[in-house]
Amino acid sequence: MSLFDRTLVALLPMIPKSVVGRIARRYVAGDSLEKAMSVVERIEGIGACSTFDFLGEEISSIEEAESVRDAYLDALDAIKARDLDANVSIKLSAFGMRLDPGICHVNVNSVLDRARRHGNFIRIDMEDSSLTSDTIGLYRRLREEGHENVGLVFQACMRRAMDDLQALEGLAVPFRLCKGIYVEPEDIAYQDPGEINRNYLALLERMFEQKCRVGIATHDRELVEGAQDLIERHGVGPEQYEFQMLLGVQKPLGRELLNRGYKLRIYVPYGADWYAYCMRRMKENPRIVRYVFSALFRRS
Ligand code: FDA
Repeated sequence: MSLFDRTLVALLPMIPKSVVGRIARRYVAGDSLEKAMSVVERIEGIGACSTFDFLGEEISSIEEAESVRDAYLDALDAIKARDLDANVSIKLSAFGMRLDPGICHVNVNSVLDRARRHGNFIRIDMEDSSLTSDTIGLYRRLREEGHENVGLVFQACMRRAMDDLQALEGLAVPFRLCKGIYVEPEDIAYQDPGEINRNYLALLERMFEQKCRVGIATHDRELVEGAQDLIERHGVGPEQYEFQMLLGVQKPLGRELLNRGYKLRIYVPYGADWYAYCMRRMKENPRIVRYVFSALFRRS
């Protein structure tokens, strides 16, 4: 990140919430499930499917974790009631992993049970490196308990990812593969974009060899094209992969994929915690901060 971008990021807390709200409209579906449903219906209208992400990462009590769980139960019921082509993505920290791993397990179990009853699927997002081992550990436990309708996210920036993948061989894990959004130290994570991309494609190839279903989550054209090469070279069938993108990001690339007949799933964040979510996204990607500042000046 350049010094200029670092300065903009440091100024973020001074931006009025209303300005952030204007920018947020592009990346967040709204503050309620009802608004998220309308966005998902629009996404279906262009031929893509969705995954719902209820924004509730920053919790500090078991009660909050339970209300996140309840929000997901409502989302699963609503998806079923409206017959939407959508699943849900959860973060274990929001389900109480940092407060009480036992309660987190119980909470995840209830959404998995509801999803199974509705014929749906739950994706466990991968958070920062302090939760990597616990996330993989809980995932294994859920599979041992007989849950099949659950998938996991791997981050290509993590040096351990290939070893973790080997260790899960035989489980045919439905993966989502992404670069990883968290800032991690050099000893555990690749920093060089070229190295991250090489690891991404190496992991993807190994996942295909292991016959895993993969959500190829990226807006990076180089990776999209690399993935398409692998798909062709390995003769991977359309049931074994889909592309995934975040709401509001790189729409032209998404449209291109749809026009070429690829399956595309859009990650749809929603919920009252949209402000914290947007601030996080802007810290990750200084280009968004530039949009915010230009909006600020246009406003004044
Ligand atoms: P890169 O960052 O190189 O972006 C490629 C292009 O897209 C650039 O032009 C860039 O400007 C644009 N772009 C990317 N992100 C943008 C944004 N937020 N706003 C505006 N423009 C943007 N990470 C994680 O650690 N754990 C997880 O569970 C998930 N889950 C997840 C689900 C889905 C569906 C997606 C698409 C991504 C994630 N991620 C994630 C985030 C992921 O790790 C990564 O940070 C972003 O996808 C950005 O990486 P790209 O591969 O898109 O490349």
